[in-house]
Amino acid sequence: MKKIYIKHIDVKGKVVFCRNDFNIPLNENGEIVDDTRLKASLPTLKYLIDNGARIVCASHMGRPEGKKKHELSLKPVADKLSEMLKTSVIFNGEVTGKKIDKIKSELEEGDILLLENLRFNSGETKNDKKFAKELAKGIDVYINNAFGVSHRKHASVVRITKFVPISVEGFLLKKEIDYLSLAIEKPSENFCMILGGAKVSDKIPIILNLMDKVKTILIGGAMSYTFLKAKGISVGGSKVDDDFIKMCSDILKKAEENNVKILLPVDHIASIVMESNVTIKMVRTGEEIPENMKGFDIGIDTIQLYTNEIKKAELIVWNGPMGVFEIDLFSGGTTGIAKAVAESNALSIVGGGDTVSAIHKAGVSDKISHISTGGGASLEFLSGKKLPGIEALTEV
Ligand code: 3PG
Repeated sequence: MKKIYIKHIDVKGKVVFCRNDFNIPLNENGEIVDDTRLKASLPTLKYLIDNGARIVCASHMGRPEGKKKHELSLKPVADKLSEMLKTSVIFNGEVTGKKIDKIKSELEEGDILLLENLRFNSGETKNDKKFAKELAKGIDVYINNAFGVSHRKHASVVRITKFVPISVEGFLLKKEIDYLSLAIEKPSENFCMILGGAKVSDKIPIILNLMDKVKTILIGGAMSYTFLKAKGISVGGSKVDDDFIKMCSDILKKAEENNVKILLPVDHIASIVMESNVTIKMVRTGEEIPENMKGFDIGIDTIQLYTNEIKKAELIVWNGPMGVFEIDLFSGGTTGIAKAVAESNALSIVGGGDTVSAIHKAGVSDKISHISTGGGASLEFLSGKKLPGIEALTEV
């Protein structure tokens, strides 16, 4: 069964509730640090304006736990959206209530109202019926344009769909589903997955789900040390998740049986502490990380080894940095892999907040086929889980 897509309906004159993921980083002065998610939501918003919808836009930001927090207000988002859309965005600092209902009822075609942070109301994360009904008041069409939060069973993502006549996919949601489905449905022969980041537990479900689809898995980041330990390779004082050593060992065996090549780092950048301005040691291929040191990045030989695999790939899915890329000393591995992915001829899909930041930092964003706006959502999607925010939409 397919979900209804925004283009399949007539939005002219309709009051449309557009759920976006405007959960973006702000600095201490309340300025937007990264507007990737805002930019990604624009095609849907522009389409709604151009086609005469009356738009009620909504999002969460951060985790205020039902309390109003000035630093998590969507006011900076309203200002930035006005600038990007070249139209004024109505914002009165409230989520629901009489004033909001009045503004909703007076919207002209093409007008946009942005509600305040949905999570200022505790009903949002509780998927509360009363709150969902309040949000749905006067709404003709619900649009999910928020892939990044579609794994959350929240009132504006799931419950609201029970109280509106029709719930459809926005352009961004559809684009995310279309790209990420390339990995889980019929991937090409040379499908290479690059996995990194700190938590091995986050990535195990993806490896298990895609084991019969992927040809090569390149592993980096702190998660690689649990795999290396599972192979009996010494990792010095590096971070190892002991609870997952057995699972990693089973995965390595299963990969061998399935003819899946799993590559692990062969050299490392190590240091005693994870700080800038510390003395680092290049641990060469064949050497061991000293007991008093931890590995914080992959080394040059690993970058080369992984680059050779990346060159052969037709489809690349990358989630998780290769090292502590926020610290320049330990960013070489992630930057090296970012450049290799950008230079490859493969269709490339990159997801996860840190990986996306690394891609921006490496200056190669425009060479990536699809940069996913989903962090947890893309992990769950690739793990084969059904996302409640997608499941809730109306079927064709
Ligand atoms: C994200 O940043 O991954 C989404 O906005 C979801 O946020 P959450 O993890 O706080 O639900």
